[in-house]
Amino acid sequence: MAPNKRRRQPVPDPTTALRIPSSYGTGGLVVLSDTQLIETLAHFARERIPERSVHAKAAGAWGEFEVTHDNSDLTDAKFLNGVGTKTKVLCRISTVAGEKGASDTVRDVRGWATKFFTEEGNQDFVFNDLPVFFIRDPIKFPSMNRSHKRHPRTNVPDDNMFWDFHEGIHALMQLFGQRGIPASLRNIAGYGVHTYTLGKEDGTFKYIKWHWKPDAGIETLPADVAVRLAGEDPDYHIKDLFNSIEKGNYPSWTLNIQVMSPYDVSEAPIDIFDPTFTWPHAKYPLRQVGRLTLNKNPDNYFQDIEQAAFSPSNMVPGVGPSADMVLQARMFSYPDAARYRVGPNYQQLPNNRPINPVYSPYQRDGPATINGNYGADPDYVRSEFRKISYTHYHQTANPEQWSGQVAAYSYQVTDKDFEQPRALWEIIKGEKGGQQFFLDNIGPSLKNTEPKLRERAIAMFTRVSEDLGKLLTDATK
Ligand code: HEM
Repeated sequence: MAPNKRRRQPVPDPTTALRIPSSYGTGGLVVLSDTQLIETLAHFARERIPERSVHAKAAGAWGEFEVTHDNSDLTDAKFLNGVGTKTKVLCRISTVAGEKGASDTVRDVRGWATKFFTEEGNQDFVFNDLPVFFIRDPIKFPSMNRSHKRHPRTNVPDDNMFWDFHEGIHALMQLFGQRGIPASLRNIAGYGVHTYTLGKEDGTFKYIKWHWKPDAGIETLPADVAVRLAGEDPDYHIKDLFNSIEKGNYPSWTLNIQVMSPYDVSEAPIDIFDPTFTWPHAKYPLRQVGRLTLNKNPDNYFQDIEQAAFSPSNMVPGVGPSADMVLQARMFSYPDAARYRVGPNYQQLPNNRPINPVYSPYQRDGPATINGNYGADPDYVRSEFRKISYTHYHQTANPEQWSGQVAAYSYQVTDKDFEQPRALWEIIKGEKGGQQFFLDNIGPSLKNTEPKLRERAIAMFTRVSEDLGKLLTDATK
């Protein structure tokens, strides 16, 4: 090959591989010194990161949150105070059970993760579009999800597994109701599901529940349309969100909270640390906080959305967790997943990095360190060489006290678990066509199930209401 004076790389263009031609003039041997060929193939084999073990398929976008109502009576969190305060956000809306290539219009919960880049650090809302969760003890989370995924032998989703595991009647009633398949991601609600706290530096705090309401209203898809779209257009929801934002038709949501004083917890009609219950709206009305608008598509999906890492443990001063054990476990699980999926320095990536200065010299080194690594600063605590002052802000609300012995906990279903589902069934029956939709949504899945599992599932729905049990028995004959 003639020397090429302009050539700075071993080979001149990205389509060339170096070869030693055979004496026939065709074919040849590629060479180990062909860095470009080797880099190209080696990088391709490494261009995936593990997909999320749940919530793998998603749409994502950038946006802005604006405070519409002041909240300084509840919290010092700056992103929630001062009408007109604006905060940049990153949002990822997902299905739960399906893999990265699964269809969008399946009956499933939608995950609703938002990262607020506040001046006090990142605040993440890692929410769902249904207001309650299936389980109240966290150790069941992997089992619950596996029962929604592929059978270990056949490698296909399996109604028997679904109904064999299943509990969480309240969430099931929601899932098989109309909200199980949204018309678009612009039409879904979002719920914190757990109780959180909002508090102030003086130690005062309130328990709260977060609610996003879509300004375009909640809209859902009829099951038959959803089934058709799942085959014809598996990325229907992702395209819809992307195209809406691209056209300047920005979707928006209003953020509301329900508020409860810690002094009223013992009088509350439900266990507020149990994510299978909603707080009655008549007793704990919604109070408006602000508005989120999604107004920019990612420039690059992998960098902005696939590598995004959200966690309920990312909270700014003035926002705190509660004694909900599922929430406590989640606060461990998400950073753990991110360290595995994206790498231990995932927080240094531009889409995960807080916009405020962070000084955490005890967390350093590791693969892909790109933040300067704190130079020569001491990497151990309490150094005389660099004095550090700390905030005394407590994330855990002060009046909460904990004592007692460590004891095993595993819950049993009680009559109380059927009260809110019963009320929901009455609402479903009151909606136009609601009862028939519900039966049509759940019937095929139950019909596919072995008789003993079906009977057990119907017995569970009979505890909600005798008429529901009978209707399901007839529908699955
Ligand atoms: C014990 C209960 C739970 C555990 C252990 C758990 C764990 C996980 C894990 C490991 C991921 C994947 C994270 C990643 O790879 O980056 C995930 C994703 C997600 N979970 Fe959970 N989860 C639980 C309950 C919930 C609940 C109750 C909600 C909603 C209120 C929720 C909402 C989400 C969302 C929205 C995502 C997707 C986050 C994203 O877009 O990156 N999860 N969860």
